[in-house]
Amino acid sequence: MDTAAIGSEARSSIGAAQSLDEIEKLRVAYLGKQGSISALLKTLGGMTPDERKEEGPKIHALREEVTAALGARKAELEQAELEQRLAAETLDLSLPAPETPKGSIHPVSQVMDELAEIFADMGFAVATGPEIEDDWHNFAALNMPESHPARAMHDTFYFPQAAGETGANEALDRAGSSARMLLRTHTSPVQVRTMKAQGAPIRIIAPGRVYRSDSDATHTPMFHQVEGLVIDKGIHLGHLKWTLETFLKAFFEREDIVLRLRPSYFPFTEPSVEADVGFAIENGRRVLGGSGDEPGHGWMELLGSGMVNRRVIEMSGLDPDEWQGFAFGVGVDRLAMLKYGMDDLRAFFDGDVRWLRHYGFSPFDQPTLSAGVGARA
Ligand code: PHE
Repeated sequence: MDTAAIGSEARSSIGAAQSLDEIEKLRVAYLGKQGSISALLKTLGGMTPDERKEEGPKIHALREEVTAALGARKAELEQAELEQRLAAETLDLSLPAPETPKGSIHPVSQVMDELAEIFADMGFAVATGPEIEDDWHNFAALNMPESHPARAMHDTFYFPQAAGETGANEALDRAGSSARMLLRTHTSPVQVRTMKAQGAPIRIIAPGRVYRSDSDATHTPMFHQVEGLVIDKGIHLGHLKWTLETFLKAFFEREDIVLRLRPSYFPFTEPSVEADVGFAIENGRRVLGGSGDEPGHGWMELLGSGMVNRRVIEMSGLDPDEWQGFAFGVGVDRLAMLKYGMDDLRAFFDGDVRWLRHYGFSPFDQPTLSAGVGARA
């Protein structure tokens, strides 16, 4: 076929194409490696210079024309497809409500409610603090000054420091880096805020979101912690151990929870202890309970804690010779996974209704100590 014949055939077949599939087939037939226009272009090599001068521009023009026509028809078809979908996919907001309630309580909310219930029974109030924190509350006041190596472990999300806004920068210079804003990396700044705001004595838990730049099956950039803080006179490690044990027995609803305290390090507690819980393997699953030292058992690291560092008490405006205390911090999502058996943390934040239907809780199932905090409807 010559240039003119291919041209008129292309014009009519492209105009008649009814689907994106057809468009693609036509593109291959004309412009693909084996396509008829590509074949025409190859004939240029065997022509005399005069013939080439004559035929070359025609063939190139045809290629451009066909390319443009294909693009235009494709856009038309895409537009038509979109309009059809928009017409078909309607949502009737006037539909009546479902007969049975469909919503469920997210396991994170459920566990936070359980924690509040358990700790309320021990005289703890619930405190909160901002998720957008400043450097001073998140680090410096917790005994992590600017160059402290422990800061590097937190993978902090910092806010950009309004470059160019001279006013903001001057304010920052005056205040030092402690005015720098960030997403809190733990709930521990609520310790400082609570001491500053209400003085002593204190018994609080502080549940909430925290943020670290980290992501895999067991880490998400946002997760949840609950902080515990007791400040009073004559508080010692024994109080901490009793509190953790009582809390974990109530939370896991087992009397045989065994705790092992291990020396550790946190800048804001001194001494610092990490608490492990004993578990057994049953049907290939870790089940909390019993000592981790028995054959076939093990210890699982669960939470960080310690006696509040006197420097932190001082920086929070209290006299450390008068007031002592303990603090602990534990992952709420992790507690939920251990108690209710999920194995991928990322699913917590996917918003998949099938997951929520499986792991969620009935809104009528309020945790109470008398009914067992984790009772399911
Ligand atoms: N803030 C610590 C963390 O996120 C946990 C912790 C809290 C440790 C309180 C000791 C006391 O890892």
